[in-house]
Amino acid sequence: MSTVKCIGILTSGGDAPGMNAAIRAVTRSAIYNGIKVKGIYRGYKGLLLDEIEDFRTQNVSNIIQRGGTILKTARCTEFRTPEGRKQCYDKLMEHGIDALITIGGDGTLTGARIFAQEFNYPIVGLPGTIDNDLYGTDRTIGYDTALNTIMECVDKIRDTATSHDRLFFVEVMGRDAGFLALNGAIAAGAEAAIIPEISLEKDQLAEMIETGFRKSKNSSIVLVAESEVTGGAMGVAERVKKEYPQFDVRVSILGHLQRGGSPTAADRILATRMGVAAIDALLDDQRNVMIGIKNDEIVYVPFSKAIKNDKPLKPDLLNALRIASI
Ligand code: F6P
Repeated sequence: MSTVKCIGILTSGGDAPGMNAAIRAVTRSAIYNGIKVKGIYRGYKGLLLDEIEDFRTQNVSNIIQRGGTILKTARCTEFRTPEGRKQCYDKLMEHGIDALITIGGDGTLTGARIFAQEFNYPIVGLPGTIDNDLYGTDRTIGYDTALNTIMECVDKIRDTATSHDRLFFVEVMGRDAGFLALNGAIAAGAEAAIIPEISLEKDQLAEMIETGFRKSKNSSIVLVAESEVTGGAMGVAERVKKEYPQFDVRVSILGHLQRGGSPTAADRILATRMGVAAIDALLDDQRNVMIGIKNDEIVYVPFSKAIKNDKPLKPDLLNALRIASI
């Protein structure tokens, strides 16, 4: 039987749609199981600065549909130092918080892993990032909403691309991972995706142009994942202007549009399942694991696996995009 009587919950790193649904599920599931909840504002930074509030079920009312995070978020440099982490530990002790639920991406889980090891302290992580780049889970909270936003934006860009017979490079987020670009391209019916995982192996732009990607079309849309490896949409467009001046090229960078907005049903359901599973994990004496979803089943992924391994792209997706865009 778990000895956890009071949990702290925080969101850290980039916000993602569905984080509020996760906060709601964690809070309500903890209270349902007789565990007290303390909301920690602004991630690890707020923990240091003592921005901590008792949470009841009403604190999480009317938030499931809201994007962003009611707990706010921050990137905390102090948490990278042993002194900063010790101060955080002292704050947790002061407030009687005997386990933490952290919601965030790679950086959040990396910090959680170090902290949990240093102080032998129980932490359960929820994967909250639009990038979908955490190993051991098929989906992260926020990814589906961002993907739908990208699809809607590209649908709109297509009107101009078609009317003017233009070649558009649309840059999407992903922090060095191509999931948003590749699946966004498939969903929006784009011609190609330039993604870091493949850029390391071959020159995707040259290949795309040499295989005559515009033979049967007058306009084209190519999604480019933001990354030094791909050069981003600007970098790719500059190259096209120099090497293939016959094309009428435009660039569109979607930016933080992709992080906002009301979460989709899929993200709300995922966040709710994961939030409830996080409390189940603590009750089950699980420690230092990220909650994941694999083949629609909840799984526990050790922090070390979730952050250290690169999540592979499925080759059939590359193939589907190639064939569907001829
Ligand atoms: O990790 C989420 C993400 O949106 C990445 O896709 C992007 O590289 C980064 O955060 C942007 O961070 P910031 O909002 O701090 O500029």
